[in-house]
Amino acid sequence: MPDLPGMADLLVNLLKLPPLGPAVKKLSARGVVIQRGNSYEQTAIRQFVEKNFSVGWADEISVAYARLPVTLFVATKGQKILGFAAYECTRRGFLGPMGVAKSAREKGVGTALLLSAMHAMLEMGYVYGIIGGVGPVEFYRKTVGAIEIEGSEPGIYGNILRGRRLKRR
Ligand SMILES: CC(C)(COP(=O)(O)OP(=O)(O)OC[C@H]1O[C@@H](n2cnc3c(N)ncnc32)[C@H](O)[C@@H]1OP(=O)(O)O)[C@@H](O)C(=O)NCCC(=O)NCCS
Repeated sequence: MPDLPGMADLLVNLLKLPPLGPAVKKLSARGVVIQRGNSYEQTAIRQFVEKNFSVGWADEISVAYARLPVTLFVATKGQKILGFAAYECTRRGFLGPMGVAKSAREKGVGTALLLSAMHAMLEMGYVYGIIGGVGPVEFYRKTVGAIEIEGSEPGIYGNILRGRRLKRR
């Protein structure tokens, strides 16, 4: 998930997640809808991820669409895609990648997406979720009480193909 290698993994106790309802309700009052991804929307989401984030993240979320239920949530307002959060894509029990379009940040969209994905992981049977190779540690600490896993670097994102420049479409 990270664009920079060598960042620590975080651990989240799923038994202590804040409730999902208020985060989603707050957004629906503003016309923002959080929904599980549908296979027939995969191209639109992949293009959103490639354009706003990276080809590598688009590769990671392809696994979400190979599962049923699809292991990814999407935030939309009308026809506009605002963000996404995937889980169970790159390793079992891993959250991510996730991202919110720059223009839609700091309005609770990331929180609602993250909580949707983490509650879904709890329903799958996990007690702890791992957020791999994290950048915005403070966001995860604030929203779901994530703590750093000591000694977890470099984690899973150290393969030899990382760092190659991939062209966006
Ligand atoms: C991280 C990200 C998903 C957050 O989305 P968002 O919609 O802005 O998040 P929210 O509005 O729900 O923010 C919730 C809280 O976290 C804080 N927060 C959000 N992004 C933060 C960041 N990058 N660093 C520190 N705090 C952050 C917000 O200020 C808010 O705090 P408050 O409750 O005190 O107001 C978004 O910034 C993003 O897409 N970043 C780039 C991609 C990325 O880093 N993805 C994660 C890969 S590990």
